[in-house]
Amino acid sequence: MAETTPFVDGWDFVQTLGEGAYGEVKLAVNRVTEEAVAVKILDGDKVNGASENIRKELCIHKMMNNSHIIRFYGHRKDGTLNYLFLEYASGGELFDRIEPDQGMAQSQAQRYFRQLITGVEYLHTKGVAHRDIKPENLLLDDSDNLKISDFGLSTVFRHQGKERKMNKCCGTPPYVAPEVMRKEEYRAEPADIWSCGIVLVAMMAGELPWDEPTYTCREYCDWLDKKYQLTPWNKIDTVPLALLKKILEDKPGKRWTIAQIKKDRWYCKTFSKSKGRLLSASPTTSPAGPFSKRICSGIDLSPPMARYDSSERYSSSQPELRPENTSSSELSQSSMEELVCAVSFSQPAAPDDMFLASQTQASQSSQTPLQRLVKRMTRFVTKCETEKALAELKVVVDKLGLSWKKVHPNQISVSTTDKRGSQLIFKVFLYDMNGYRLVDFRLSKGDGLEFKRLFVRIKRKMTAVISKAPALLPINMPDTAL
Ligand code: ADE
Repeated sequence: MAETTPFVDGWDFVQTLGEGAYGEVKLAVNRVTEEAVAVKILDGDKVNGASENIRKELCIHKMMNNSHIIRFYGHRKDGTLNYLFLEYASGGELFDRIEPDQGMAQSQAQRYFRQLITGVEYLHTKGVAHRDIKPENLLLDDSDNLKISDFGLSTVFRHQGKERKMNKCCGTPPYVAPEVMRKEEYRAEPADIWSCGIVLVAMMAGELPWDEPTYTCREYCDWLDKKYQLTPWNKIDTVPLALLKKILEDKPGKRWTIAQIKKDRWYCKTFSKSKGRLLSASPTTSPAGPFSKRICSGIDLSPPMARYDSSERYSSSQPELRPENTSSSELSQSSMEELVCAVSFSQPAAPDDMFLASQTQASQSSQTPLQRLVKRMTRFVTKCETEKALAELKVVVDKLGLSWKKVHPNQISVSTTDKRGSQLIFKVFLYDMNGYRLVDFRLSKGDGLEFKRLFVRIKRKMTAVISKAPALLPINMPDTAL
């Protein structure tokens, strides 16, 4: 499981957290302190102009200093590869806290929404627009605090008090504001606020309202026609719905600002504590899959090279690494020093360490970062031997009409196209651990929602060979998941 990627002395890459067209994000753990950091690896040579985009992402992310934004610890360059050292959010994606077709408790949604608005307000005060706000880019830390991540599409919209309008159509269609779709010049702040509104719908109703907010999209026209008796609106209380009407306002000039949102009745409402935890703390997945009613695609609209539309200065191309902020998510001095020291080849961490039972009870506080690290839903365990597990998996994948190829003795790559005709590629890794096989699904390319939906279909078909995860395994597998 651990890899021998050239890295900083004393840190081990123990796991891939995510993969995408941009590159990948790995979890690195300090061998001495066991502190965990997320390392985003971006290849400056991947596509034309990629290094400029990386510089921009770096430059913007390092300006950020807010408890609802993933911390940027530093940057190191090794050839064309850029390593971005980021705060590790062990709670996974907000997406995984949304019950399909139901959403979550209002109080929980309100808590996340307030944190989202706080984070977005902060970045807007810095003159930065995120431009790709969606649950996949909203991570949770071990205290369930929301953290905005991924500044790959972000841009500066205000500099020295002067605002410039945006003209690039970028983002993810179901979350993108109508004026962005219309390909007209648009203001950055209202467009981000719109996306926050869509995130709120997802949290309140467990589904997305439309594929894209265009006049050719029936669901969007129904919204404009005030057909609130239709789903998802009929699942949402009148008080939060009143807020959504102000946020999901077609005309950006009439859309509520953050200042207005913060005075809203529902936003300010105090929920009683007992109602605060309607859903279990662990993520849940239903047989129908997340957003099963209507799966909305998360395709980036912008070609990678069209993403950035502002020029900016960047001080140096030299590798650099410096502590950015002081906060509870700050790295310890010793860990930071190790990150700063020369690049070397690290020893892989023993894979079994990830699955070793702790001597103590597996409470949140007594778990090591390794034990706490995995809250992703797209995995299960089986007692089958690797060969048998792979054979079972292949039967199911074949049945679903997906193409697959074996890439390693314990890894297959599966590809298909989703309902929008977009490519969907994911890998399935099988890891041995204490008599079990961990079957771990990772999205390589495509829409996260479609991927998770497909995962649930595969998992349902493999029920017979799936085991309940041992208590101390770093896997969240609620019983409702099958
Ligand atoms: N996936 C992408 N970025 C991440 C981060 N900072 N923490 C955890 N998982 C991530």
